[in-house]
Amino acid sequence: MLHKNIRTCGLAFLLLGHSFGLGFHIPLQDGLAQDNDEEVPTISIIDILSSNESYTSLILTLQRSDLVDYVNELTNVTFLAPVNSAFDRHDIPRGSKMSKNQLNKFIINSTIFREDINGICILDTLGKGSPYIENLNIPILLEHRFVDGEDHETYMVENANVIGDDVYMPAFDNILLSVDDLMIDDKESVCRYFLNSLNRNTGDERFKTFSSLIVSENTCRSEMLSNMTFLVPSDKSLSFNHVEIKYLNNVRGLHDKNLFLSNFLVDGIIGGNLNNAPVVTHNWNNNEVKITSSYLGDEIIINDKYHATTSNFLLADGIIHYFDSFEFDQSFESYPRFTPRKYLIGLDYDEFVDELDFRKLSHLIDDASLNQTIFVSIDYKIMGALQNQMYYHFVEGNNIDSLQPGESRLLTSKFCLTEEFCQKIKIQRITDTGSLVLNSNVNIVNTKPYKVGNTSIYILEDDISLPAKLQIAIASELTKHGKSISYFKEFSLLKELSRGDSFHTIFFPASKLWEDLDVTLEYMENNPSLLQEILEGLVIEGLIYDNFEGTQLLQTYGGDVVNITTINKGLLQINNSTLIKTSFDNEILYSNGVIHPVYDELPLPKTLDISVFDLLQDQSGDIFEKILEKTNLTGYLALPDYSILLPPDKSLLQENITEMVGDYDYLDKFVKLHILPPGAMDMILNCHSNQPLDSNSTTMIPTILEGHHLTCRQLSSGGIMLSITEGANNEVRILRKGSTINVSELKSGILILDRPLSPRWLNKNPGKLYLHLPFLAVIVGILIGVVCVIFGFGCCLLITLGSNSMRTADEEESENVAANSSHIANVNERLPLLSENVGGNNINEHDNNGIGQGSSLKKVTGKPQKNYSSFESRYSANASTSPIEVIQE
Ligand SMILES: *[C@@H]1O[C@H](CO)[C@@H](O)[C@H](O)[C@H]1NC(C)=O
Ligand SMILES: *[C@@H]1O[C@H](CO)[C@@H](O)[C@H](O)[C@H]1NC(C)=O
Ligand SMILES: *[C@@H]1O[C@H](CO)[C@@H](O)[C@H](O)[C@H]1NC(C)=O
Ligand SMILES: *[C@@H]1O[C@H](CO)[C@@H](O)[C@H](O)[C@H]1NC(C)=O
Ligand SMILES: *[C@@H]1O[C@H](CO)[C@@H](O)[C@H](O)[C@H]1NC(C)=O
Ligand SMILES: *[C@@H]1O[C@H](CO)[C@@H](O)[C@H](O)[C@H]1NC(C)=O
Ligand SMILES: *[C@@H]1O[C@H](CO)[C@@H](O)[C@H](O)[C@H]1NC(C)=O
Ligand SMILES: *[C@@H]1O[C@H](CO)[C@@H](O)[C@H](O)[C@H]1NC(C)=O
Ligand SMILES: *[C@@H]1O[C@H](CO)[C@@H](O)[C@H](O)[C@H]1NC(C)=O
Repeated sequence: MLHKNIRTCGLAFLLLGHSFGLGFHIPLQDGLAQDNDEEVPTISIIDILSSNESYTSLILTLQRSDLVDYVNELTNVTFLAPVNSAFDRHDIPRGSKMSKNQLNKFIINSTIFREDINGICILDTLGKGSPYIENLNIPILLEHRFVDGEDHETYMVENANVIGDDVYMPAFDNILLSVDDLMIDDKESVCRYFLNSLNRNTGDERFKTFSSLIVSENTCRSEMLSNMTFLVPSDKSLSFNHVEIKYLNNVRGLHDKNLFLSNFLVDGIIGGNLNNAPVVTHNWNNNEVKITSSYLGDEIIINDKYHATTSNFLLADGIIHYFDSFEFDQSFESYPRFTPRKYLIGLDYDEFVDELDFRKLSHLIDDASLNQTIFVSIDYKIMGALQNQMYYHFVEGNNIDSLQPGESRLLTSKFCLTEEFCQKIKIQRITDTGSLVLNSNVNIVNTKPYKVGNTSIYILEDDISLPAKLQIAIASELTKHGKSISYFKEFSLLKELSRGDSFHTIFFPASKLWEDLDVTLEYMENNPSLLQEILEGLVIEGLIYDNFEGTQLLQTYGGDVVNITTINKGLLQINNSTLIKTSFDNEILYSNGVIHPVYDELPLPKTLDISVFDLLQDQSGDIFEKILEKTNLTGYLALPDYSILLPPDKSLLQENITEMVGDYDYLDKFVKLHILPPGAMDMILNCHSNQPLDSNSTTMIPTILEGHHLTCRQLSSGGIMLSITEGANNEVRILRKGSTINVSELKSGILILDRPLSPRWLNKNPGKLYLHLPFLAVIVGILIGVVCVIFGFGCCLLITLGSNSMRTADEEESENVAANSSHIANVNERLPLLSENVGGNNINEHDNNGIGQGSSLKKVTGKPQKNYSSFESRYSANASTSPIEVIQE
């Protein structure tokens, strides 16, 4: 009803026009009709055209095109007659042909007087406008208005001015309007127009977004858009990004798109001056749309609110009003609500979306208010399709783009074993490139995320895989942790810790930390339950990541309570003692938690107590212990922080210590030399740091043998040599060490020597030493002495023997074998050096010198000069007062 009014804006006033305008508007008709007053003069359009020189071009064209009869038969129309100059203006040769359809565009299908038109009026021509609707005529725009009051009148038909007055022909109810131009605007159909607009820059009016939505996926054809009014929003007012447009243009976005477009579609061709009859109609979403106009139709207004920037643009089967500033409020409630799903579709991840639906994970992508980040591999096909794997691509929180270069973060995925434990993803922004990297190996393609609601979407260059089982995670990442791996394996922790819903933090010590325990480790290995306790102490029930802060009481896998405190960022303290460094780079995510490789300090349970006695029992054979017992010094082992220098049984046997069981004094000294008071062990172990190599006698390491100290010397190889400060400079080597484990601050433990420190070396008496005499010279001296004794000084000899007879039998015997045994002792003494520096040259050297008894000595080495002196010194000592010099079987 209302539309009818619009389409016939002239018609509504037609009757008025008839009643008022007839007399004075048709001068020609008056003139021609003067002869027969009664009859209505039967002057036709052709008559008028032929009677005026101005229309010769048109007449010729009509004649040539065989359209004279057609024009003659027209009734109830307004005929637009271009004057000759109109043809000339377009360089159209006189008499050019014209089709009937072309001519129809010059014929308005109603009788319209200019008085009926106030401002802009849209009327129908006889031209067929629509490819879809049978009777739809091409519209045409007429504009008639008075400028400066009633003085100056303008009357235009689109681009052409109307010349002269309306010529009314009552017999046919026709009007002829003389126009000075052709209707050059060849109106396109709706579909063609929007299609073309994609490749056309229409000045300031850009509506490519709208056009692309209209024409895509055959919307145009399938909806048969014809006989329509388009309220076209500008690109500016549509803030769709390319993902959203792609979604809307996707088949799956069709519904959203149609809903959206329907906001702007109104049936019928509505335009021109609507002041007298505002149109209240509905858009295709059935929302009420009120269309009014201002400036006599120059400007179309929607809902009293939206003013068209450009109004009344005519198409062959539609009309466009263009809007620069739509705000999408309630009246446009069908603005698409974008969700992650729609974005994923817009990003061409339809298959991913299908898979999510199939895995019943639709809820993850249908709610844009979820505060989450989605990671999608650039190639969906490489993504795992298991539900867990899919969950792993969804991460809590959406502020990844706030990461600064060099910054890193642990993200919590939605793949959760329990409520507390959800798998993490590492992310960091590379300092140089600013790009984001997941789990240290997967690059993110887009530096800026696609954001929809509170969800961000990132595209991955590759796929992120779920954290591996413990065994695989450590095998691939921790090459320096073989010992831990084998212990964990031995106690089947590798499997247990990857099992089920449990989650753990594992402190995973480097092999070196275990190896540094040395003797203590051996003790642990010999006590599997203890080792297990230690291993289980390395596993914490609960999750401590590098970003852990504060203090928390947790349980170890073994059931112990531990207090874990952050000292600084990345520095944890366990139970107020062990410090553990953690870092984003080092921590390894595995299927059931996180692994912190430990390099600095082995975290041992505080309750662990390994005493010197434990270590001693573990290490020594019976002999040393028996001697300890015999000398009644076992009590020292019970005292805190005492340490033991432990010569292996074999070396004790070599030293024939068992032969000395009767000599309590000797054994007492012997044992006391091997027991160190608190603090001494630290001094030995810190040997290198305490003293420079060149002055190796400054530190006095106490023993419990009163007045006797040890001197240490560190070899360039790192080994430590000990000698008795107040004795001969025979050296023993520390082969291995083992510390006790207890609450004490001081270090104690056992140090395993290559051979015992002998009490025999105690009496160093430099004054009595005949140093640096070659062995041969001594022999020669002795021989000369013997000769002198035999041949000259018998009495002197007797006196000497007499004094010897005052010694004990033992000592005599010892002296008898002194020569032999000293050589053997020499061999033993050199043993430590043997292992360090074996050289054939040295053996030869010794042979040549005639000192070493080459044939019996398997290995001889070391610095010859040093050996001389040590041999010499002992030789001299043996020869003098030492009571326990030689051990005889
Ligand atoms: C012929 O038509 C033109 C244009 O409408 C008009 O100006 C002119 O007066 C007409 N001439 C005659 C003789 O009617
Ligand atoms: C023109 O149209 C009117 C109204 O539609 C009609 O009454 C009249 O008969 C028509 N005139 C001719 C000549 O057909
Ligand atoms: C054009 O649309 C209007 C409004 O819906 C309708 O009244 C009219 O009949 C249509 N025209 C044609 C030719 O279908
Ligand atoms: C995003 O989250 C905030 C709260 O963090 C909420 O107020 C807002 O509505 C959410 N946005 C969307 C689009 O859901
Ligand atoms: C969403 O995430 C942001 C940033 O991570 C946070 O500030 C905000 O509180 C979160 N909102 C909700 C509802 O979780
Ligand atoms: C750790 O030290 C703090 C203060 O030094 C003390 O309050 C706390 O009891 C200690 N915890 C343990 C487990 O020793
Ligand atoms: C930590 O300290 C608590 C109480 O002080 C103790 O029960 C627990 O055994 C300790 N745990 C470890 C691993 O040292
Ligand atoms: C060993 O020590 C205990 C207690 O100190 C003492 O009773 C015992 O006589 C000592 N034995 C020897 C052989 O000195
Ligand atoms: C130990 O005893 C054996 C056998 O009696 C002897 O050959 C050897 O020289 C002795 N060693 C020492 C260091 O006295």
